[in-house]
Amino acid sequence: MINQLKLPHFFEIYKSTNHIETANAIKNMIIRGAPAIGAAGAYGVAQACFEAKKENFLVHVKNAVKLIKSTRPTAYDLFYAVERVFKKVEKAKDLEEAKKLSLEEAERIANESVEACKRIGEFGNRLIKSGSKILTHCNAGWLATVDWGTATAPAYFAKRKGKQIFVFVDETRPRCQGSKLTAWELLNEKIPHAIIADNAAGYYMRKGEVDIVITGADRVARNGDVANKIGTYEKAVLAKENGIPFYVAAPLSTFDIKIKSGDQIPIEERAEEEVFYAEGLAESFIEKVRIAPIGSKAKNPAFDITPAKYIKGIITEKGIIKPNEKNILKLFQRK
Ligand code: MRU
Repeated sequence: MINQLKLPHFFEIYKSTNHIETANAIKNMIIRGAPAIGAAGAYGVAQACFEAKKENFLVHVKNAVKLIKSTRPTAYDLFYAVERVFKKVEKAKDLEEAKKLSLEEAERIANESVEACKRIGEFGNRLIKSGSKILTHCNAGWLATVDWGTATAPAYFAKRKGKQIFVFVDETRPRCQGSKLTAWELLNEKIPHAIIADNAAGYYMRKGEVDIVITGADRVARNGDVANKIGTYEKAVLAKENGIPFYVAAPLSTFDIKIKSGDQIPIEERAEEEVFYAEGLAESFIEKVRIAPIGSKAKNPAFDITPAKYIKGIITEKGIIKPNEKNILKLFQRK
């Protein structure tokens, strides 16, 4: 996996050799983004099969599944992918078959994810005119998926079609996925963009400089409520206030149709340290510096819920839908 903790300053590949290292890579955000951690989790279950001894291999894999699922609570792709691979393992007649089936299923999940994101890009491109100024939050690009991305895939397609576009990149404190990852992707894609402080979005929206907002999702509930990176909700409210269409891009693997609404989505609380410190390049190494005074407390929810009423449409691999229970369940009937 690309070690996302080192970007944008260093490009390093992190090689995970067993399911415990994979679980740690997800927990510590070496890899992050809903579809990316889904694929990593799927391969983690396959790794557990390859590590297991013949006797009681199912117990070993069950424990691995438990560990991988415990790494991050919000993104649904992780649970979807890990369960899919585990179902294959349960059906296997012996360890050799479990190894084969689990690896095949992990590969299938990764390949399906690439295909889904590509379609999201194609559908989303239809919303983008030449000259459009797009605002995005967090990183929902190819780093956060297996390839193409979700929220940024439409921009990548638009660029390939020759459209002139510009992207406002929310910095996305405290982990700065916007300034560290999305901006780096856009540079690689040669797409004009500017990083803005998270609290600058409303200023540009009010000035009429934002034509469309597209974000990713970590989990979509049956009623169309969306969990995504903290700060997404306020962007959606601001977009509505300013008459700007707000879209979410998400593959079906991010939809949790078992839950009725966003209120049931578990929200990850992360360490206070992420708020106290900023991290970046000092000379030639990555250094952390303290911003907040010693003695203050911090709160650090990693995600928030955007109610469906603020979302103009969800861009999926099956087309763009208005978020409501009827449309969402229909997506799964046709699967
Ligand atoms: O905490 P992170 O960096 O894993 O959060 C990621 C996001 O919120 C993304 O926007 C989301 O997973 C969509 S990724 C295609």
